[in-house]
Amino acid sequence: MPYDIFISFKNTDANGAETQDTAIAEELFRCLTEQGFRTFFSKTILLEQGAAAYKAAIEQALDEAHVLIAVATDVNYINSDWVAYERESFHNDILSGRKQNACIVPYLQNIHNLDVPRSLRNYQTFQIGTHSVSDVVEFIKHFLRSGAASVEERESELSLVTGKHLSTYSAKTREEFKRLHIQADNTRAADLNALDYVTQQLGRTEGLRILDMGCAYGFVTKDRFSRYEGVSVLAVDRGEELIGFAREHNAFDGAHYEVFDLESEDFDEEFEALMEKAQIEQFDIIFASLVLHHLKNPQKLLRRVRKYLSNTGFIVIRGSDDGSIITYNDDGLIGKILDIHLNADGISDRLNGRKIYSQLINSGYKNVVMKNYIKDLSGLSLDERNAVFIERFSYRRNYLKKLVEKDPYDEKKRQDLKNITFYLNELENKFDDETFWYCEIDFIGIARKR
Ligand SMILES: C[S@@+](CC[C@H](N)C(=O)[O-])C[C@H]1O[C@@H](n2cnc3c(N)ncnc32)[C@H](O)[C@@H]1O
Repeated sequence: MPYDIFISFKNTDANGAETQDTAIAEELFRCLTEQGFRTFFSKTILLEQGAAAYKAAIEQALDEAHVLIAVATDVNYINSDWVAYERESFHNDILSGRKQNACIVPYLQNIHNLDVPRSLRNYQTFQIGTHSVSDVVEFIKHFLRSGAASVEERESELSLVTGKHLSTYSAKTREEFKRLHIQADNTRAADLNALDYVTQQLGRTEGLRILDMGCAYGFVTKDRFSRYEGVSVLAVDRGEELIGFAREHNAFDGAHYEVFDLESEDFDEEFEALMEKAQIEQFDIIFASLVLHHLKNPQKLLRRVRKYLSNTGFIVIRGSDDGSIITYNDDGLIGKILDIHLNADGISDRLNGRKIYSQLINSGYKNVVMKNYIKDLSGLSLDERNAVFIERFSYRRNYLKKLVEKDPYDEKKRQDLKNITFYLNELENKFDDETFWYCEIDFIGIARKR
């Protein structure tokens, strides 16, 4: 049985006495083993197998494990030769893609942020004293059992589109829940325009089999698809809580909400099981709204789902693009906000709208047409204008806030947060000013399988 978890720690101090880290590592080992995880704890291996087999056992465990816990209560311990070797080689395997769905969990104390080794900085860190051993175990349990990296661990991965760290986006907050609701309303006209085109081409609106990729709380799913008679919709998202809400509040006849990671390594097997459960053999429409820009490799997903589209079916992909914003009378505020936001790490691909056309062609689809939709502020009430501000701008501060929370001593990040907060406050007032005008494009790519 391969190891799931590797515990990295400094065993003895300068005087040869056992460190506090060993005791913490031992407790972690005990709890993780109790939970059924095969955990590598070098002290037991040394006792069981002796010094000769020790190094080989470490190498093998480093190769096999999906999680490395870096325990350290002293900056000298974390920089000691073996500990550094274990951590750096594990981190390099993740970066090079040799290790998939793997992460490092730093469990630290007395180590100033500036002294935390670079290879640990992008992982979700636990503080000894603040977080218990059970907190760490729970986190790892969730990570390993979900079989996919959660938002926090994904921070260590790079997007193949932007080359930056993957989007730290989470739909789970209360604010995002509200924003997605508003966004579903604001983008209705764009979707219906595209879906009307598709159903006209299909020549029917009855008995459609639809896949909604990244459905979140199901606001868009229910609003757009429950209108079709005899519809079957498989709506998937990796957020368990989101799917739980969708099942409870956005159910309708023919809806199947399921938890699924669109970037799963075992995509076909897991996805086909869900199709079977929903009794869907092929899809007439594959749909995704504002999802591809969060993925590490959107083209891979497009290619993967193509085989599940019927020969006469359509794929419909909606995205947005900050480059499509045109505004008048904003005193340069939007430019300043975008400048900060687009340069921040861990954001989604904010320029994805322009890429949809090529992504569809490059992943094998034919007859690609763009049914883009322009929305602007003209004719909107004050409340509607404010809803556009919430949908398109206020959330941007959260990314900067997360960066500061993760790296509180970084002066540049703090200044960026301060500035974007200021500019957003000013812009919110602009949206109240009826002479202020703004427009933006919702990009929708539609294509056929052949
Ligand atoms: C901006 S929301 C859009 C939700 C919905 N489509 C809408 O238009 O309201 C992006 C959604 O994509 C989901 N998502 C991101 N990456 C995913 C992945 N790898 N697998 C499944 N869902 C994912 C997120 O959980 C989130 O619910």
